[in-house]
Amino acid sequence: MNPFEYSPALESTAIVEIAERYNLFIDGKFVTPKSGKYFPTINPANEKVLAKIADANATDVDLAVGAARAAYSKVWSKMPAAERGKYLFRIARILQERAREFAVLETLDNGKPIRESRDTDIPLAAAHFFYHAGWADKLQYAGVGIQPRPYGVVGQIIPWNFPMLMLAWKVAPALATGNTVVLKPAETTSLTALLFAEVCQQAELPNGVVNIVTGAGVTGADIVNHPGIDKIAFTGSTEVGKLIATSIAGTKKSATLELGGKAANIIFEDAAIDEAVEGIVNGIFFNQGHVCCAGSRLLIQENIHDEVIEKLKVRMAHIRLGNPLDKNTDIGAINSAAQLAKIRELVTAGGAEGAEQWSAPCEIPGEGFWFAPTIFTGVSQTHRIAREEIFGPVLSVLTFRTPQEAVEKANNTPYGLSAGVWSEKGSKILWTASRLRAGVIWANTFNKFDPASPFGGYKESGWGREGGRHGLTAYLKASN
Ligand code: NAI
Ligand code: MG
Repeated sequence: MNPFEYSPALESTAIVEIAERYNLFIDGKFVTPKSGKYFPTINPANEKVLAKIADANATDVDLAVGAARAAYSKVWSKMPAAERGKYLFRIARILQERAREFAVLETLDNGKPIRESRDTDIPLAAAHFFYHAGWADKLQYAGVGIQPRPYGVVGQIIPWNFPMLMLAWKVAPALATGNTVVLKPAETTSLTALLFAEVCQQAELPNGVVNIVTGAGVTGADIVNHPGIDKIAFTGSTEVGKLIATSIAGTKKSATLELGGKAANIIFEDAAIDEAVEGIVNGIFFNQGHVCCAGSRLLIQENIHDEVIEKLKVRMAHIRLGNPLDKNTDIGAINSAAQLAKIRELVTAGGAEGAEQWSAPCEIPGEGFWFAPTIFTGVSQTHRIAREEIFGPVLSVLTFRTPQEAVEKANNTPYGLSAGVWSEKGSKILWTASRLRAGVIWANTFNKFDPASPFGGYKESGWGREGGRHGLTAYLKASN
């Protein structure tokens, strides 16, 4: 029995106003799509339709690219850098002022707990604008020569797991470096991007500097293939990342790709076990495990395996799954029926291949998409659940005996986005970290993000870095 009973603590939705229908944001105005088509976006916690969203076709994309080009050549590239910076500061401040509205809307459209949208997604999105606002007039220190130049018009395609945060990761550095953008949010989570369009109007950002076109993968491909696009910035699946790389091969377009992951979270025998258990939970159950850098492969030193798993199960039994608007909720809804089906398919494969499943006992609501926090023990390297990105609240547990073996197992993946190392010895952490082929390595913590810190992967986890000085270089060319 859980000795603590929680009363419901629902965040009010009164602060958000959701329109019945949303148009495209092109050249500073909301315009009806030439396609004439709209598609629904739902709240994954109850499957109710929240609004209809415009489905942009190639003509719509062309108009958006045209607006971005005009804004680039006539206004944005001519504006003194310090002036550009002021707009970013203004956007950052408005995001802070309207943070609660953004957080509630994000939770409604995405299914993530309000605790996370309120405390992580939206504050970090604002932080990205603040950070990059400061860079706008200091680009000579970005490491791309003394007079770096922007690319021009950037096409940006983002996923549904951190809709507003991924928008900030893309838009803030692009604008700070003097580019203009055509951005497409993911089809299940367009609402905060459309609210951001209103913020651009509120900040009096010159028309056409930011254009938001909504739609599914076809609209994304229209952006990628448009000849007026100078650079693509994409975050999403490795599969689509490869498609994009193939589409732009042989063109003048450059790309940054932030793709999938299958991160190892390594627990050495000398780690502080209780803290490590918190880190494991945060590593895989944060945002329902819809996290590219999730610690989805737990590598435990063999002699502490049973102790860690026992404590982990006790901790997992206290995870609260349910209404994402409840401030006590830890795990919200799975973002879509398709993602839930993918999680279920891989979990079934895990059992069929011989791993042992344990799911936390929790009540699953009657409507909406949900998956109980789950671990698999007895996983071997060849199992699909050890190799493929599940992108859900499912942890695969493997063991190792020596640090060397931990490193070999950790690196035995086509991905290389992130990793975690838990040990009380700094020397062991550094020894391990220097051998891990991963872009981000956390020591005695997990899933910590900062706009000043570059983020990105090795191998099939992507090309390039986002954030920090490294991230700026992805939007700048050396002048010659
Ligand atoms: P996805 O890669 O299809 O979608 C990401 C974005 O790309 C969306 O905006 C989508 O509309 C767009 N897109 C889709 N096809 C495109 C194309 N041909 N050209 C241009 N843009 C295109 O990801 P999806 O289908 O939502 O999720 C599938 C799996 O991908 C997940 O189960 C997960 O494993 C992985 N994923 C990884 C993410 C990450 O952050 N690393 C984010 C989202 C998904
Ligand atoms: Mg939705």
